Amino acid sequence: MPTLLIVHHTPSPNCQAMFEAVVSGATAPEIEGVRVVRRAALAATAPDVLDADGYLLGAPANLGYMAGALKHFFDQVYYPCLDETRGRPFGYFVHGGNDVTGAVRGIEAITTGLGWRRAADAVTVTGEPGKADIEACWELGATLAAGLMA
Ligand SMILES: Cc1cc2nc3c(=O)[nH]c(=O)nc-3n(C[C@H](O)[C@H](O)[C@H](O)COP(=O)(O)O)c2cc1C
Repeated sequence: MPTLLIVHHTPSPNCQAMFEAVVSGATAPEIEGVRVVRRAALAATAPDVLDADGYLLGAPANLGYMAGALKHFFDQVYYPCLDETRGRPFGYFVHGGNDVTGAVRGIEAITTGLGWRRAADAVTVTGEPGKADIEACWELGATLAAGLMA
C-alpha cells in the first residue's frame, strides 16, 4: 500500500492545530488505500523515508531557519535516501511568529538537493492559524495523500 510519511516538529498549540489539520486531510474518508505514518522529526529515520512513497514535512521557523529538529531529520536521512527517493512527491507547512522566509528557503533548497518533487503549494502561517489556514493545511494533507492513491 502506498505510504505517506508525515514528519513534524510540533512544539506548541498553533503548530499542533496545523499538524492535526494536515493529518485530518491525509486520512479523510474519501482517500482510500493510502497508509499515513506520522513521525516526530527527532525520531524519524532513513528507513521511514525509504519505506514511504511521499512526504509531508512540518515545523516552526526558529532563528531565521527551519526548527533544528527538522534540520536534524534532513541531516540524518539526506545521504542514505539520496539515491532511492528522487522524484517522490512532498509538501510542507511552516509556522512562525513573524517571518518564515529562511525556513522556506532552507526546506526548498534541501528538497531540491534530494530531488523531491513538490506536489502542493507550501502552507505558511504566522501567528494564530485562522480558518483559511487550517483549511489550507487540510488541503495539503489531502492533496499529498490523494496523489498516492493507486
Ligand atoms: C528560539 C526561537 C526562535 C524563533 N525564531 C523565529 C523566526 O526566525 N521566525 C519566525 O517567524 N518565528 C520564530 N519563532 C517563533 C516560532 O516559530 C513560534 O514560536 C512557533 O512557530 C510556535 O508558534 P506559537 O508560539 O505561536 O505557538 C521563534 C521562536 C523561538 C522560541
